[in-house]
Amino acid sequence: MAGNRAVVYVGPGKVEVRDIDYPDLVLRDGPGVNKLNVGRKCEHGVILKVVTTNICGSDQHMVRGRTTAPSGLVLGHEITGEVVEVGRDVEFIKKGDLVSVPFNIACGRCRSCKEQNTHICENVNPDRPGSAYGYVDMGGWVGGQSEYVMVPYADFQLLKFPDKDQAMEKIRDLTMLSDIFPTGYHGAVSAGVKTGSTVYVAGAGPVGLAAAHSAQLLGASVVIVGDLNEERLGQARSFGCETVNLSLHDNLGEQIEQILGVPEVDCAIDCVGFEAHGHGPNHGEAPATVLNSIMQVTRAGGRLGIPGLYVTGDPGAIDEDAKIGSLKIRIGLGWAKAHTFVTGQTPVMQYHRQLMNSILSGKAQIAKAVNATVISLDEAPRAYSEFDRGVARKFVIDPHGVLK
Ligand SMILES: NC(=O)c1ccc[n+]([C@@H]2O[C@H](COP(=O)([O-])OP(=O)(O)OC[C@H]3O[C@@H](n4cnc5c(N)ncnc54)[C@H](O)[C@@H]3O)[C@@H](O)[C@H]2O)c1
Ligand SMILES: [Zn+2]
Ligand SMILES: [Zn+2]
Repeated sequence: MAGNRAVVYVGPGKVEVRDIDYPDLVLRDGPGVNKLNVGRKCEHGVILKVVTTNICGSDQHMVRGRTTAPSGLVLGHEITGEVVEVGRDVEFIKKGDLVSVPFNIACGRCRSCKEQNTHICENVNPDRPGSAYGYVDMGGWVGGQSEYVMVPYADFQLLKFPDKDQAMEKIRDLTMLSDIFPTGYHGAVSAGVKTGSTVYVAGAGPVGLAAAHSAQLLGASVVIVGDLNEERLGQARSFGCETVNLSLHDNLGEQIEQILGVPEVDCAIDCVGFEAHGHGPNHGEAPATVLNSIMQVTRAGGRLGIPGLYVTGDPGAIDEDAKIGSLKIRIGLGWAKAHTFVTGQTPVMQYHRQLMNSILSGKAQIAKAVNATVISLDEAPRAYSEFDRGVARKFVIDPHGVLK
């Protein structure tokens, strides 16, 4: 039997590549596996040889020690792979298929899944609706920053690429379908972006850049990206966005007025989440900053797309309230402006097929927008620390060295 190697969370600031078990079609006990999920049979699943698997800002929350992730957790929820084994109950996915895996795990059988809300599947995580591979409090499904991984509910979940050769040519783009491209797009759709919209995107990490590119695809007239990281803002300018450096300016509305002539946008997207920094020089962490500033700069009646992650437990939070996810949000302002808030994980399956078509037709240029950078599995620990320092890159792990 083949071996298996994976990126493992060791402790705050530390990840390692370790030998782990080759997967089989059952969820076995291990670090982070929910007791009620131990022994769960997955004859509806497949084993994938991982072709690409990306490092995400969501992984960084765990690696920074900002969650209760246990040592030994196998990381990785952004997975693209080739099917090497199919379970007894898989009917339509075949050995050899090249597929994108939605980062949410969804059964296809519960009320949420039947309503296409696969981000809050009721059957995959005993703790709460919603699940993901390689993530704290998400049921314990083994992560895919590895050579091989098991994916349950294969017929329902997997997006098969129509032509393998064509897909391998665009694999740096297609690898973004497992999470950040649908996530950025969902942020833009839920913010109500349409032809001519003016849009503010908070955060120029990979999700923010994906949201900015998505807003362009949806026809926005102006996309303004804010961050405190000048290198990442340069990346946003490289594909036509306006930018605001929030480490230099503490009044976002004034900066938007300089660009648009008015201090408000039609739509705003939070691509930062709970580790947000305050605006202006000498900023420290201030977790409600983005939520409050997008209420300030979005016009009355506007919609706020909030893919940025907020948690119910944060051991490293700045105060006792924030440790349980209670933030100082000026809800009175949002109420007065009749804002709509859209939060939560992205229902990837609502978008991934259409976005695949946009990639294959050449219309979407997501790899270029996020500066996709291919690395080996052994380079992953270094990439984690570079990403943590804020390089303007989206790291794509190629565990078998198959990308040229
Ligand atoms: N909803 C979902 O399904 C989903 C999916 C993927 C990622 N996420 C979340 O999206 C967020 C972004 O992901 P990423 O990979 O781009 O992370 P990232 O950490 O690379 O990027 C976050 C960026 O926000 C910037 N930032 C900090 N404070 C800011 C502020 N006040 N205003 C503007 N920018 C600020 C940081 O400098 C950084 O560049 C994370 O919270 C991640 O967990 C959610
Ligand atoms: Zn992700
Ligand atoms: Zn379900």
